[in-house]
Amino acid sequence: MKMLNKKIMMVLCSLALIGNALIAQDVAKYVGPVSCKLCHNNPAKGEQYNKWQATAHSTAFATLSGAKAMEYGKNNGIADPSKEPKCLKCHSTAANVDKSIVGGLKNEDGVSCESCHGPGSLYKAMNIMKDTAVAKTKGLLVPTEKTCLQCHIQEGNPFYKPFDFATFDAKIAHKYPPKK
Ligand code: HEC
Ligand code: HEC
Ligand code: HEC
Ligand code: HEC
Repeated sequence: MKMLNKKIMMVLCSLALIGNALIAQDVAKYVGPVSCKLCHNNPAKGEQYNKWQATAHSTAFATLSGAKAMEYGKNNGIADPSKEPKCLKCHSTAANVDKSIVGGLKNEDGVSCESCHGPGSLYKAMNIMKDTAVAKTKGLLVPTEKTCLQCHIQEGNPFYKPFDFATFDAKIAHKYPPKK
């Protein structure tokens, strides 16, 4: 009888594990900008990756080790801004993501594609990406001004510049010409 109970327990446990695995597959994880680069760096289609690389977003983490950040840290009791959650909050996508879904994303990727477009593991496959409506059901976000205002606010930002969506958006533009 005891043996039987044990067996039943084992079966139940493995069912629970399978259940968890199935649920885990449905949670979108971050994949990192290099995964987007595969399809989004064709000059004829707007080379979104290169355009992002040319913006301050791609180097936002490195900024925290630069002279300005170090000086600010020295004057404000922060030994290393690149390890300070108060700064990483806006300067690194990876630092603000739960470890279980951070996937291929690193601090060094700064403010990456997925900060604005959502974690990509479930929408990055071609058969899904090619249909924006389907991609949206898999977590693709089409950003708006609200997306920017997660970080472009004065509170906590020692070097704040007043945010104007039209002006700032034009500076990071990365259009996909075939759709226009
Ligand atoms: C396997 C190739 C592939 C990968 C990898 C890929 N994409 Fe795409 N993506 C496409 C294609 C193709 C389209 C164009 C869909 C269309 O024509 O409507 C697209 C469209 C988009 C759009 C525009 C949606 C719209 O209509 O407004 C965004 C945003 C986007 N991708 C973001 C990303 C991000 C972020 C990543 C990385 C996490 C990524 N893509 C990875 C192929 C890919
Ligand atoms: C996850 C946080 C975050 C989000 C979301 C975000 N940004 Fe930024 N943005 C930053 C940080 C941090 C910097 C400064 C990077 C640096 O200088 O190292 C920055 C810098 C910029 C700059 C350069 C400003 C300058 O002084 O040259 C522009 C333009 C910009 N962002 C536009 C936008 C727009 C438009 C959106 C929304 C579509 C947006 N950002 C969303 C964090 C973010
Ligand atoms: C609320 C989001 C946010 C937080 C928190 C934040 N920053 Fe930033 N940081 C930005 C944005 C956005 C910019 C670009 C300027 C702008 O548009 O406001 C920026 C720009 C910078 C710059 C470049 C300034 C220049 O003129 O070149 C440095 C250096 C910097 N931040 C350091 C820090 C440090 C150090 C901390 C932590 C004490 C920090 N940031 C916290 C959002 C933030
Ligand atoms: C700071 C936020 C931000 C980051 C970072 C960012 N994007 Fe975007 N992206 C936007 C905004 C805003 C739009 C315009 C949305 C719209 O169509 O209204 C956009 C549009 C797009 C489009 C569709 C363009 C079109 O003309 O329809 C693609 C494709 C895209 N992004 C891919 C990427 C890829 C790949 C990366 C990283 C290499 C990236 N984005 C990084 C904010 C961002």
